[in-house]
Amino acid sequence: MKNIVLTGFMGSGKTTIGKLIAEKLDIELIDTDSEVIKEFSMTIDKIFEVHGEKKFREVETRVIERVSKLENVVISTGGGVVLNPENVKLLRENGVIYFLYASAESILKRLKDDDTRPLLKSGDKLSNIIKLLNMRMPFYKNCDFEINTDILTPELAAEKIISIHLAKESKR
Ligand code: S3P
Repeated sequence: MKNIVLTGFMGSGKTTIGKLIAEKLDIELIDTDSEVIKEFSMTIDKIFEVHGEKKFREVETRVIERVSKLENVVISTGGGVVLNPENVKLLRENGVIYFLYASAESILKRLKDDDTRPLLKSGDKLSNIIKLLNMRMPFYKNCDFEINTDILTPELAAEKIISIHLAKESKR
């Protein structure tokens, strides 16, 4: 089976929905943020602080190079992965990319007490979310399927992705 690759903004539910899909299909979940954390042995926040975003992105791409070679897994990506066309190209080789859409308002609701996202730390959270989300939307839209998480529970979003994916697989 081709990999199920989940993309979307921070707080769009990639990890939660990824876990549900992996459980339901009894396959492995790879989380690119967790892989980067393992490489540095420090939190994302600390990586940004000590090494900077550029270094984080380099290691993130190295992780993508490695995990995109796998098959039959769910890959939950960090919210900035799709900004690099090389990452998208690699992930598409063995996978189908699902964009988890969430509105700025629901992202704020989900992340209002979160302080683990370095890109949303300074200034007004909602305006940072709106600015980044607008800038990134064309990159997220360049995926294979879009799932609106504002109108679906994580459970239903997971089921929808599974049914799209299995239907697509049966036609291969
Ligand atoms: C980022 C999203 C984060 C993490 C890092 C940068 C981004 O992952 O990779 O803080 O650029 O959107 P999540 O989307 O899992 O929060």
